[in-house]
Amino acid sequence: MPRVLITGTSSGFGLAITVELAKRGWDVVATMRDLGKRGELDRALQESGASNKVVISQLDVADPQSIARAVVALDLPARGLDAVVHNAGVAAGGAFEDLDEANIRRIMEVNFFGILALTKRLLPTFRAQHRGRIVIISSESAFAGQPANSPYCASKWAVEGWAESLAYEVEHFNIDVVLVEPGPYRTGIWDSSPRILPKDSPYYPLLRHLEATVETHVRKIAGDPADVGKVVAKALAARRPRFRYAVGPTAKFNHIARGKLPSTLVRKIIGRFLGLSRVRW
Ligand SMILES: NC(=O)c1ccc[n+]([C@@H]2O[C@H](COP(=O)([O-])OP(=O)(O)OC[C@H]3O[C@@H](n4cnc5c(N)ncnc54)[C@H](OP(=O)(O)O)[C@@H]3O)[C@@H](O)[C@H]2O)c1
Repeated sequence: MPRVLITGTSSGFGLAITVELAKRGWDVVATMRDLGKRGELDRALQESGASNKVVISQLDVADPQSIARAVVALDLPARGLDAVVHNAGVAAGGAFEDLDEANIRRIMEVNFFGILALTKRLLPTFRAQHRGRIVIISSESAFAGQPANSPYCASKWAVEGWAESLAYEVEHFNIDVVLVEPGPYRTGIWDSSPRILPKDSPYYPLLRHLEATVETHVRKIAGDPADVGKVVAKALAARRPRFRYAVGPTAKFNHIARGKLPSTLVRKIIGRFLGLSRVRW
């Protein structure tokens, strides 16, 4: 049976991807940074009837020692590994000028450097096997900038540039790199991410407006994270996977717009969508 390691499986997409792949017969190493949060995944696996396909283990992608321990526990190369799904991710909402260095660095550590560090540890195995698939949960935020979300957008742009480059290097070893780019989905990230909204901020009117607008927008269009689980399963099963899978209507629109429309026009469209002309500065 094929075997996959997934990061950030305590909630959201990571949990949904774990359940979907286990149901389809994959042996899943479902990792999370805090094993105390495994309850929701345990329950979902019990309901799915596929819990025997999943081993849950600790992995904090921002901690090099934790990465090293998790990779040792995979027992490579004796037991092969067919794929990794880099799913763990964090965000922080706020105007760039109001965000502190710690929040910005945390986003890059998890969403960018963590992916690079784990990939580096797995590539020798994938090369030796002459087989491997690296799936990265990116975002539609990699298509165009968004107000009050600059470090998150930057982290997804960074990881996409890295992934596009890596794909050239590893193709020869029969290793595929795949970007999955969802629009908004109902996961924990919206509530668990810090929102930096100081009342004395010069950006306060914009931030208040965005908070309300994004909340309404997300509630209205956010989809079921199970959809992303299905797309990842499809990308892993494909004989020749696509490089990019945009998931959800807004991601698909943005995907097309990115290649076809000038950036100033995209900014106007997004500004109108978010009602930015109504902000009372
Ligand atoms: N939801 C959306 O609308 C959306 C859209 C596009 C892309 N995404 C991306 O989807 C991915 C999953 O996010 P989600 O939406 O499913 O949100 P989520 O429910 O908050 O899940 C994020 C997961 O990442 C884990 N995580 C955070 N820091 C970690 C670290 N240092 N090491 C290992 N795991 C860590 C979290 O663990 P803890 O529980 O311990 O914090 C959690 O399990 C992220 O990369 C996100 O950027 C989300």
